[in-house]
Amino acid sequence: MSQLVLCRRRILGQRFPTDDFTNVTPAIISKTPLQLHITPSHPLSTLRELIESAYKDFTHVSTSSPLVSPYKNFDELSFPLDHPGRATTDSYYVNRDMMLRTHTSAHEVEMFRKGETRWLLTADVYRRDEIDASHYPIFHQVEGARIFDTNASGMTEVLEDNERLSSLLASANIIIEDIPHISDTNPVQHNHDPVFSELVAKNLKLSLNNLLLKVFGAAAGITKQNPLRVRWIEAYFPFTSPSFEVEVFFQGKWLEILGSGVVRQATLDTAGVENKIGWAFGLGLERIAMVLFSIPDIRLFWSTDSRFLSQFQQGKINVFQPYSKYPSSYRDVSFWIPQDSKMHENDFCDVVRDTAGDLAEDVKRIDHFCHPKTRRTSLCYRINYRSMDRSLSNAEINHVQDQVLSRLKDKFGVEIR
Ligand code: PHE
Repeated sequence: MSQLVLCRRRILGQRFPTDDFTNVTPAIISKTPLQLHITPSHPLSTLRELIESAYKDFTHVSTSSPLVSPYKNFDELSFPLDHPGRATTDSYYVNRDMMLRTHTSAHEVEMFRKGETRWLLTADVYRRDEIDASHYPIFHQVEGARIFDTNASGMTEVLEDNERLSSLLASANIIIEDIPHISDTNPVQHNHDPVFSELVAKNLKLSLNNLLLKVFGAAAGITKQNPLRVRWIEAYFPFTSPSFEVEVFFQGKWLEILGSGVVRQATLDTAGVENKIGWAFGLGLERIAMVLFSIPDIRLFWSTDSRFLSQFQQGKINVFQPYSKYPSSYRDVSFWIPQDSKMHENDFCDVVRDTAGDLAEDVKRIDHFCHPKTRRTSLCYRINYRSMDRSLSNAEINHVQDQVLSRLKDKFGVEIR
């Protein structure tokens, strides 16, 4: 018990007791106050404003604490108890009762409960993940939602809005690959009028197609001959049905942009909202900003180097000019893991992030081997080190690597080979 009292984490000015769920690391905690999405001139802030400008008559929220209860992040949104997102290998927990939100949907009930009927909420979200140029354990999402009255005037409102949005798209340089609003595999909710649900799903799609046109349409290369290509894909989320994902074809690749759907009625019930039906979407900012601003590595968003920051102005989308690519250098680590070890790949990555910070560019498992006689498992990882801002000396990398090894030994009892 005394250990419980001694072990505390201080996050955003609050102190929390730790327990067997605690896995949030100092490297992550140190980034919680930064709020890149409202930092003037930051690319993420410009992109947030661009999205907000497509939803002018919506309420816009962009400051909220990332500390939420697992109840708010998962249960309020009908996540089953065995959903993998709840695992400590996937999410950051301060303790059993407090975590860092894994998505902005965690605020849906709160926003609906306040009586908001059309809103956007932008925030930092946290997920334990691998290490490479497009994955970072913190990223930013915009959640958007709109609900309508389930009566004749609500239905008229959707119909009129669908008309307006369709006519905006009719003359635009966009090709949309659509799927049915409702199908056997992407069903209407049992307590919804199928006609109304279809109209709401259509409103969601029209609204997002217009948003994507605004966000990508201005980018170089979109013309009559070379229109923006958007495709809708059936999806599954515990808190929407029907559900959709959207991908955009940009610079030769299909990019996953967002998840969305018709809000599960249980969410509105929990929020105390009656006689409404509506949609919600959640969109990741980094991936879009990386292509719009030609930012090659997700770590750059966190750079405080003026050679990065000075290239951007609030409200302007311009191509990032890399100031230099400093040399990279890799180190391999091979080790035996103890027989009863539950060490997960994300545990390895968090040790690396916590020790090397943003000097770790990429981590790959290059070998996995089970000894035929002893049945012991050996793993080998390759850590690629590179600074965004300067050259690293071999001595500095060796020092970081030594610390990684000693933390692996201390935390997971591994035997370095
Ligand atoms: N929260 C989901 C995610 O992060 C996205 C989503 C938001 C899906 C709203 C449906 C509705 O993947």
